[in-house]
Amino acid sequence: MLTVIDHPLITHKLTQMRKEDTGTKDFRQNLDEIAGLMAYEITRDLPVEEVTIMTPVSECKTVQLAKEVVLVPILRAGLGMVDGIRSLIPTAKVGHVGLYRDEETLMPHEYFAKFPSNMPESVVMVLDPMLATGGSAEAAITLLKQRGATQIKLVCLVAAPEGVKVIQEAHPDVGIYLAALDEKLDEQGYIVPGLGDAGDRIYGTK
Ligand code: PRP
Ligand code: URA
Repeated sequence: MLTVIDHPLITHKLTQMRKEDTGTKDFRQNLDEIAGLMAYEITRDLPVEEVTIMTPVSECKTVQLAKEVVLVPILRAGLGMVDGIRSLIPTAKVGHVGLYRDEETLMPHEYFAKFPSNMPESVVMVLDPMLATGGSAEAAITLLKQRGATQIKLVCLVAAPEGVKVIQEAHPDVGIYLAALDEKLDEQGYIVPGLGDAGDRIYGTK
């Protein structure tokens, strides 16, 4: 259930994001574009239903999406992925989970949660550019399951193997989609080589 989306456009844009001298504007733009490109792959197995419609010419038996999609960005950095995916799924509803990682303990702390009511019957996509220790994504997925979500995908840009393992062990039913699987975590819990602190680079807070 781990998919690393290997595409030259995604890799090129991720390279721009990784560069230490890339500024806030270009960082945000590349994140938005990568999220849009990833949307093709993460929606590949969305369920469809048969419908019969009328074209201007004749009747046509075809298919349409059978389930609604809910996007759940993990604040703050996950917000930077919403618009790119929503440009392809404009009907998607959006829930929010506010989590920050304590810089000393690396444990996630929840400070906000608000979800649409259609989560139990929807395909829910958790968005966060960074999967480091996996603590934040694990907490968000647990919270979503408590609110009734049953079909969950985790969509991240860059992950450390440590974080992937945490999600695979805690939530083996959740598909993980990445643009890159990096080497490891450093002593401060940063992904190596990674791209630094995604939230700070999106919002210019450091
Ligand atoms: C970052 C990132 C993830 C989390 C990943 O958020 O956006 O949510 O860390 O680390 P983990 O896998 O070890 O939990 P941060 O806590 O820095 O908050 P921010 O998005 O508000 O900057
Ligand atoms: N959060 C980030 O934003 N970057 C990392 O490398 C790890 C956690």
